[in-house]
Amino acid sequence: MPKVKIVFCSITGNDEEIADVLDEKFQELGCEVDVSEMGQTDTSDFVDSDICVIATYTYEDGIVPEEALDFYEDLQEEDLTGKIYGTCGSGDHYYDDFCRAIYEFAKIFEQIGAVSGAKPVEVELAPEEEDIDNLDKFAEELVSKFQGQ
Ligand SMILES: Cc1cc2nc3c(=O)[nH]c(=O)nc-3n(C[C@H](O)[C@H](O)[C@H](O)COP(=O)(O)O)c2cc1C
Repeated sequence: MPKVKIVFCSITGNDEEIADVLDEKFQELGCEVDVSEMGQTDTSDFVDSDICVIATYTYEDGIVPEEALDFYEDLQEEDLTGKIYGTCGSGDHYYDDFCRAIYEFAKIFEQIGAVSGAKPVEVELAPEEEDIDNLDKFAEELVSKFQGQ
């Protein structure tokens, strides 16, 4: 069964909730899961995992949230060839660049050799029932992509 690493970046708790939903689903699918906050995580943790997941909010000023910048920069130096990745996160349609950070992280994953296992999941503010369904499907797709390798 795959080892899953979930890294979240959250100020008001929505992305932490997203990470919790995914944690539960991956465990239900029989995965070994580890969840940590981006500011407390070394990017090398992804090297020791099979499936790499980022859940982050988006703030309008900058490509990624300021507290995620070190992680974002360090990630560009890793080699994740052969790993499966997925990105998701919370945003607010009030802003122009809805959920932009999850696409910026997806670009980095592509550059460092990881393979997308599921389409990014956008969540409007806190995850609701429909979002939880989408996140559950996201986890299932990531696991089946890993199993199909
Ligand atoms: C100053 C500010 C700027 C924001 N800019 C964006 C943005 O550009 N795009 C977006 O989708 N959401 C934007 N948001 C909304 C947050 O991404 C959203 O509130 C998210 O749910 C926060 O996630 P968290 O609870 O995990 O911290 C912004 C919020 C604030 C307060």
